[in-house]
Amino acid sequence: MAEVITTPDGALIHAVEEYNVEEEPYYLPIGDEIALFETAYAQRIPVLLKGPTGAGKTRFVEHMAWRLGHTRGANRKPLITVACHEDLTASDLVGRYLLDTDGTKWVDGPLTRAVKVGAICYLDEVVEARKDTTVLIHPLTDYRRLLPIEKLGQVIESADGFLLVISYNPGYQSALKDLKHSTRQRFISIEFDYPPKDQEAEIIAHESGVDKQTATDLAKLGEKVRNLREHGLSEGVSTRLLIYAARLMVNGIPARRACQVAVTWSLTDDQEVQRSIEEVVTSIFE
Ligand SMILES: Nc1ncnc2c1ncn2[C@@H]1O[C@H](COP(=O)(O)OP(=O)(O)OP(=O)(O)O)[C@@H](O)[C@H]1O
Ligand SMILES: [Mg+2]
Repeated sequence: MAEVITTPDGALIHAVEEYNVEEEPYYLPIGDEIALFETAYAQRIPVLLKGPTGAGKTRFVEHMAWRLGHTRGANRKPLITVACHEDLTASDLVGRYLLDTDGTKWVDGPLTRAVKVGAICYLDEVVEARKDTTVLIHPLTDYRRLLPIEKLGQVIESADGFLLVISYNPGYQSALKDLKHSTRQRFISIEFDYPPKDQEAEIIAHESGVDKQTATDLAKLGEKVRNLREHGLSEGVSTRLLIYAARLMVNGIPARRACQVAVTWSLTDDQEVQRSIEEVVTSIFE
C-alpha cells in the first residue's frame, strides 16, 4: 500500500509506503548481514544500512521484516518506509493536526504509527531530512525507546517489536551533509556493496528471468564498469540497472541497445565516459 501524505493545502510533503507481504521477498545473502540484523533486532539495537544506490538495502529490509514475521500471519504489521528529503521535518514523521469538515484532527505520522504497533520503521536516506528529526531519533534509539510528541504534550513508549532502521549513502555526502556522530553512534552499521560477480549474476537471473550466460555477462559488465570509476564515474553501475538491462533483453531489445539505455546513458552524460562504457559493452556483447 503506497500512501501519499499531503499538507492541509494539498502540497505533497513526503511519500510513505506500508509494505505487507505474505510471500518471502527474494534476497540473496552476500555475507553475514542476516545474522547481524537478526541479532541486533533481538537486542533491539537500531540498524544503519550503508551503501551505494541499488545495492539491495531496501530489498534486505523487506526480506528481514518478512523473516522476523512482521509482515505475515495473524498479528502482522507493515514495514513502514519513509523516503527522506530535505524538506522532511519532525512533524512529518510524528504527525500533525489536519483540517477536516469537523475542525482539526490529529493524525499520527509514520514514525508514531510504527512506534505504536511495534513495526520496523525504515528511514531511507536519513541525512536528507531536516536536523529537527534527530530530536526524535535520539530518544527512540537509546534504552528508553521513547517518542516525544511535542504538539500533543505526550511521550510514548515504543511497542515491543519496534525497530528503527536508517539508510545512508556515504558517496553522496558532502562534509556539510554528513550524519552527525551523536546520531550514527546510536546504530550498528551494516555495509552494503555491489555483490561479487557470481552472486550478482544469480540475482540478475532471478529478478529478470534472463538465461544464465547473459546474467553472467551482465555481472561481468557490472564489474568492469565499476572499475572505470577512476575515469570520471562517480558511482559504479548498480545491480538495479543491470537488472533493467536484463529485463529489456528478455523482452526483445538487442543486448547492446539494452545496455546503452539501461547502463551507459543512465550512468553519465559525459560523452567520453560514455564511450569508455560502450567499449566495455561491445567487448562483452559482440
Ligand atoms: N542481495 C540481493 N538479493 C536479491 N536482490 C537484490 C540483492 N541486491 C540487489 N538486489 C536487486 O536489486 C534491486 C535494487 O536494490 P534495492 O532497491 O534494494 O537497492 P537500495 O540499496 O535500496 O538502493 P537505493 O539506495 O537507491 O534505495 C532490488 O530490487 C533487487 O531486485
Ligand atoms: Mg532503497
